[in-house]
Amino acid sequence: MLDLARRARDNAHAPYSRFRVGACLRAATGRLYAGCNVENAAYPVGQCAEATAIGAMVAGGDREIVEVVVLSESAEPCGPCGRCRQQPAEFARPEVPVHLCGPDGVRVTTSLGELLPLPFGPRTLGR
Ligand code: THU
Repeated sequence: MLDLARRARDNAHAPYSRFRVGACLRAATGRLYAGCNVENAAYPVGQCAEATAIGAMVAGGDREIVEVVVLSESAEPCGPCGRCRQQPAEFARPEVPVHLCGPDGVRVTTSLGELLPLPFGPRTLGR
């Protein structure tokens, strides 16, 4: 997963922030999906690495995330932005591990539930 996230990060389109991020999701089927951030000259249109990976997963036919890797170039572990806590919550249980990684590997392992307590999710809507 680290290797796929690293390769995706290397392909990030981040000319504005120069902050490249890669993500990799493991689905319940075992399949892995990677993504990178894709910025845009119209700044708010940019997409985070996690969102790219989720799009790839859904397009690939998977619906359940069982592990998440987020990898940046930062010395500090890159905590996912608010949107990137909400989006995986659509497809992952709170106990799903989220590994926050730097270039050399895992810095912090947390869980989706720790990152997004009291979530608004499919179960809130009875799904
Ligand atoms: N970024 C991500 O890809 N994921 C996050 O969870 C946090 C932020 C990206 C968005 C933008 O392209 C760059 O990092 C700087 O904010």
